[in-house]
Amino acid sequence: MKAIQVGLLGIGTVGSGTFAVLKRNQEEIRRRAGRGIEITMVADLNVERAREIVGDAAQVVADARAVIANPAIDIVVELIGGYGIAKALVLEAIAAGKHVVTANKALLAVHGTEIFAAAREKGVMVAFEAAVAGGIPIIKALREGLTANQVQWVAGIINGTTNFILSEMRDKGLDFDVVLKEAQRLGYAEADPTFDIEGVDAAHKATLMSALAFGIPVQFDRAHVEGITKLSATDIRYAEQLGYRIKLLGIARRRDDVQGIELRVHPTLVPSKRLIANVEGAMNAVMVQGDAVGTTLYYGKGAGSEPTASAVIADLVDITRLHTADPDHRVPHLAFQPDELHATPILPIEAVRTAFYLRLRVADQKGVLAAITRILAEADISIDALLQRESAEGENQTDVIILTHDTVEGEMRAALARMQALPTVLAPIVSLRKEELA
Ligand code: NDP
Ligand code: HSE
Repeated sequence: MKAIQVGLLGIGTVGSGTFAVLKRNQEEIRRRAGRGIEITMVADLNVERAREIVGDAAQVVADARAVIANPAIDIVVELIGGYGIAKALVLEAIAAGKHVVTANKALLAVHGTEIFAAAREKGVMVAFEAAVAGGIPIIKALREGLTANQVQWVAGIINGTTNFILSEMRDKGLDFDVVLKEAQRLGYAEADPTFDIEGVDAAHKATLMSALAFGIPVQFDRAHVEGITKLSATDIRYAEQLGYRIKLLGIARRRDDVQGIELRVHPTLVPSKRLIANVEGAMNAVMVQGDAVGTTLYYGKGAGSEPTASAVIADLVDITRLHTADPDHRVPHLAFQPDELHATPILPIEAVRTAFYLRLRVADQKGVLAAITRILAEADISIDALLQRESAEGENQTDVIILTHDTVEGEMRAALARMQALPTVLAPIVSLRKEELA
């Protein structure tokens, strides 16, 4: 049978890996897919560099629209990134009747509803395994492997850059700014790392996972997003002393008590004994808890040329196997049938339920602790653990660290405002959320 013809838009980090792996493993891939898969046309702004990568194996053009217009191309792979030209090209490819593979989490988290609707109308597939956690097949797990379950929650380390920075901060006791510079020097963080360190990239991925886990539309604009820029080595150290590590987690949780979904990205204390707490460096890991399966964990490289290409090519194989199937018999884009997506609301952050870590810089005098614990008790917030260090010599102030049991965030915010107003609380209170992930 004639090979499936693929057109590649953008041959940078992921595109070049896709080209290399597809070539290297072509025979194995053909045996799995049932026919060959060949990249026969590549568009990239840098035509010269693209030619160096593909040699004579594919036609190289500067204009991505020439790939979309080529009637011989069956699948368009978008590896340009961003929500600008990439959105236009994906929609144009769909309109031209091409199946699409993309690694572009930003695009799908923001414009997924429009893109999936357009694809359905045209009867084509949009596959995006590489968009969440790179080489880890978490989309496949959520869309197919776990379909028996009511998913309770998904929690993941889904940004390698920030996990690398947090690992370095913990190992070396260094503050965020110092480690970020080092990460940029080593090539772990981009020159403009905003999306990574502010949690936006993780929120894009968490948004996609929330849709797949709970059968809701993608709603990036409803996600609560906090990055790691304000995190200090002091809190990482105290957390460690209390048996926790701090990770930037993307969390999506079903809340049956209030008929809503929590969708949030923020630094989180996780018990050190959990496997996910021990995911170090630029590695990714995602935990999914289902009512039938219990807790599952997926671990691997969340970025990089060939790890991400592995996911792109898995999508190419899926499309090759399925493209002749009746569109109604294919796996739905968001795991649930499109007319079965529910409008379950994403909860505002004030309604989220978690435990908290608090660090208060207080005057070392009598009654201070009593005033703080009274405010927590009046807010119905129960203390789980409490740590107070002796004042350093010559200082008449110290840190009080409190771990609470689960509480509603709105209640905690009100209590924090009252504690902050105490004259004996000498600096802004640090509050971080804590999850047991059991
Ligand atoms: P790169 O920047 O390395 O590659 C993008 C390529 O697209 C570049 O070669 C760029 O050319 C080219 N390009 C830009 N605009 C156009 C255009 N209009 N027409 C044709 N080509 C164009 O990005 P990555 O490979 O790192 O990322 C690609 C996608 O994969 C993104 O959505 C990213 O979020 C996602 N992703 C990336 C991962 C990674 O590890 N890198 C992991 C998971 C997902 P030029 O350089 O000349 O601008
Ligand atoms: N910037 C992302 C990360 C790349 O650091 O994980 C993969 O999406």
